[in-house]
Amino acid sequence: MERREFIKAALATIAVASLPQTARSDLLKGNNMAKKIVILNGSPRPNGNTKGLIEAFTEGAKSKGHEVICFNLQQMNIHGCLGCFGGGKDKNSPCVQKDDMLKIYPEYSAADIVVLASPMYYWGFSGQLKCAFDRLFAVAECNMFYRNPKKQCIMLMASEGNSDSNSKPVIDYYEALLKHMGWKNLGHIIAGGVMKVGDIKGHKALDEARELGASL
Ligand SMILES: Cc1cc2nc3c(=O)[nH]c(=O)nc-3n(C[C@H](O)[C@H](O)[C@H](O)COP(=O)(O)O)c2cc1C
Repeated sequence: MERREFIKAALATIAVASLPQTARSDLLKGNNMAKKIVILNGSPRPNGNTKGLIEAFTEGAKSKGHEVICFNLQQMNIHGCLGCFGGGKDKNSPCVQKDDMLKIYPEYSAADIVVLASPMYYWGFSGQLKCAFDRLFAVAECNMFYRNPKKQCIMLMASEGNSDSNSKPVIDYYEALLKHMGWKNLGHIIAGGVMKVGDIKGHKALDEARELGASL
């Protein structure tokens, strides 16, 4: 090691050693690192209830220095998967269809956390979100065993119904999906009892979303 590099390394060691115990252990575990968060917003309503959850979550996440990028899928040109099994030949452009998924693929590949945000439609995700999610298969095709890149995941959802039995089908689906993807669940928030645009105002789920974002 050159003298200058040695001095730099020594100064860095002293700086770390002088940190308080919790900060030092966070740093050594990599806990303090800014994360890259990609939100796939499947709500067709630009200022709908799902968007309210997204904004609160984003505020929390950004307050901790995380990078957040949100794709409003309704405003994008994204076609359904063709089921051709012909993708995965080019990591930068993995699908045979050259539409707006090309904007999502690089961000998805680089993401630490993927947020699936959607209104509840027929006890599941909206078509816009399902359509984009299916197209992520092209990224798995880049691996000879169809392995998905490992991610952490969060679900944010708005629904008219407000009972556990109303939420159960989509929570079961979300958990099963993550199990099969091999992804880690960081939590889900369902804002129940909201139908019209603006119904989410003052909902406790907004605080939960903000706290979840700030907890990352
Ligand atoms: C096509 C459609 C299907 C829906 N299905 C359900 C449902 O299965 N369960 C439910 O609780 N709410 C359902 N809703 C209500 C929406 O989830 C609710 O209005 C939500 O707040 C919309 O979110 P947004 O404002 O982001 O669009 C449905 C609404 C639509 C338009």
